[in-house]
Amino acid sequence: MAPFFVRFLPLLLLLLPTALRDYLPNRQWNDDAAGDELSPIVLFPGASCSELEARLTDAYRPSTPRCGAMKGKGWFGLWQNCSDLPAHHYIPCFMEQMSLVYDPDANEFRNLPGVETRVPNFGSTVFQRNPEHTDWCLENLKNELERLGYRDGDTLFGAAYDLRHAPPIPGQPSRVYSRYFQQLTALVEDASRKQQGRKAILLGHSFGGTVALEFARAAPPAWRDRYVKRLVLVAPLPVSGFTEPVEYFTSGSGLLYVPTTTALSLRPMWRSFESAIVNFPSPAVFGDDKPLVITKRRNYTARDMADLLADVGAAGAVEPFRRRAVPRMNCFEAPMVPVTCINGVGVNTTEQLVYWDGDFDKEPEVLFGDGDETINLVSMLAFDQEMMRQPGQREQYKSIKLPGARHGNLLTEERSLKRVIQEIREANRV
Ligand SMILES: *[C@@H]1O[C@H](CO)[C@@H](O)[C@H](O)[C@H]1NC(C)=O
Ligand SMILES: *[C@@H]1O[C@H](CO)[C@@H](O)[C@H](O)[C@H]1NC(C)=O
Ligand SMILES: *[C@@H]1O[C@H](CO)[C@@H](O)[C@H](O)[C@H]1NC(C)=O
Repeated sequence: MAPFFVRFLPLLLLLLPTALRDYLPNRQWNDDAAGDELSPIVLFPGASCSELEARLTDAYRPSTPRCGAMKGKGWFGLWQNCSDLPAHHYIPCFMEQMSLVYDPDANEFRNLPGVETRVPNFGSTVFQRNPEHTDWCLENLKNELERLGYRDGDTLFGAAYDLRHAPPIPGQPSRVYSRYFQQLTALVEDASRKQQGRKAILLGHSFGGTVALEFARAAPPAWRDRYVKRLVLVAPLPVSGFTEPVEYFTSGSGLLYVPTTTALSLRPMWRSFESAIVNFPSPAVFGDDKPLVITKRRNYTARDMADLLADVGAAGAVEPFRRRAVPRMNCFEAPMVPVTCINGVGVNTTEQLVYWDGDFDKEPEVLFGDGDETINLVSMLAFDQEMMRQPGQREQYKSIKLPGARHGNLLTEERSLKRVIQEIREANRV
């Protein structure tokens, strides 16, 4: 039952001079909950949206004196303001200090010795800004949520993460994500407490969708029943993979925008990330007869991806690929909470890569299939099918396919953004 004031506000508004109305939030009083009746929301943005700070200790052995300049100087923004990097001639040092190494004994990725890192602004929805795509990091979604009455730090929270690491599937070790999941647990419990014990909506876009999903899968059943109202997965990266990560690994990724660099020049750093080797296409979904990478010497199907890693000059990635990436390909364990999964479909999407003369430094010729421009349709359907197959999840799984909607702007383009907002309003009404 809405308090007296709220119920009569529409009437009062009619009596106000128009200028005053401009100062009041634009809420639809009749069918939306007021601020104190909202379920808190935690936002997990895409991979390029989290910042990273570093601290260099005595154990760090810089490759050049310049890279040692910040040694002993405390925390600084390593991946924070991308224009800073060329301005301070720090790009080679940035690449070095961002790089991960695989530790086969622990079956985990680590920073270089002497490089400590942390993600700033955890809890807040202030994310990294890509000057070329200022709307990539949930800006428009945040504006829409504010129109519904959501407020940063009160009902609306952000869960920035370390984009270099992949969230572990249940049972996989990850010191980085163990700590992150603990922080997240506390954040959700706190948010719930602030909102009279209401459960939280976890909303993730792209890589952030995968992070939200893995968090829910890792949580004890009693905890997720108590605290998770709904998972809203917007174009989550599917465990069965897609072709684009293969292109990013072979020829470089432009996902992290750094002025004056190219995908190729950042490639050595990119290839060191765990996030670069997960989400390769799985044989179960992409088959073992269709070549995904075509050269005149050899074709590579989904089953040949480990060979491809070695053939493009990254033999060191083969072991972590086998031990960390391959096991997740078939991990379709249901999160057992209400889920809405929203994907774009019907857009030309990278399916096969042709490097005819075998030069992986060149951009490939791309053959397209169906998808959202990034994720292949076949992988989205595999996820739907696996969720619908599991009793207990089937009854609380909703899949929405939006023809023509593209991966990067599902949360910026008006039509698809409206659809996402509609899901949040419905979740709030339940
Ligand atoms: C980002 O870095 C550039 C170059 O160092 C600087 O001019 C600019 O003021 C910085 N922007 C912010 C928001 O700190
Ligand atoms: C690779 O695949 C293409 C397209 O399916 C095919 O035409 C070609 O013969 C194959 N090449 C090799 C070396 O197997
Ligand atoms: C999709 O790709 C095909 C080539 O594979 C091209 O002929 C077609 O025009 C593309 N469609 C759009 C809408 O870009």
